[in-house]
Amino acid sequence: MNLKELIRSRRTIHQFKDEPVSWDLVEEALELSLWAPNHKLTEPWRYISANPEQRQQLVDLAVDLKKQKESEFSETKEKALRKKLSAPAHWIFLGISKSADPRTFEEDQATMACSVQIISLVLWEKGIGTKWSTGKFSIHPETYKILDISPDEIYLMGVLFIGIPDLIPAPPKKKAPGTFW
Ligand SMILES: Cc1cc2nc3c(=O)[nH]c(=O)nc-3n(C[C@H](O)[C@H](O)[C@H](O)COP(=O)(O)O)c2cc1C
Repeated sequence: MNLKELIRSRRTIHQFKDEPVSWDLVEEALELSLWAPNHKLTEPWRYISANPEQRQQLVDLAVDLKKQKESEFSETKEKALRKKLSAPAHWIFLGISKSADPRTFEEDQATMACSVQIISLVLWEKGIGTKWSTGKFSIHPETYKILDISPDEIYLMGVLFIGIPDLIPAPPKKKAPGTFW
């Protein structure tokens, strides 16, 4: 795939197959993501790969939060959510070191956004899908405890699910080029 095709064809994947993805491929994508532009070379990245025990706890947390939000959250819905969240081969939490300077903190978040796109494109080229989720459970105070990180030191920008796509969504409708300039 050439670069243009790669950029246009990448989709956020919401449904993954319950299949493994080699950690070496993930690690390669993480390494490449460190080449994102990074003002003042702060190196803010703190990637946290959730282990199976942490994942189980995080799935429980996600279910609990859904139950709090939706009084009608049925057993069937719970089962479906557990299955959906269990499918991606890897969960990489997107942490950045928390800068005391508000401007640097903003710029570090921008760097992470650039890095996530690099990860997604590098993996997409190999047929591996990603989903950046900022869902409630991904940034919840309990999540910091489960991952054993301090919110004073690390700021979570969500989680990146990585896995083999089960369904590739249709591309979103885009306004005509030129609309934004
Ligand atoms: C910062 C950020 C947070 C996102 N959080 C979520 C999320 O919580 N849930 C979700 O379904 N998609 C999430 N997405 C994915 C977007 O919804 C998705 O990029 C958008 O629908 C366009 O689809 P595409 O990525 O396939 O082009 C997020 C994307 C970004 C950049």
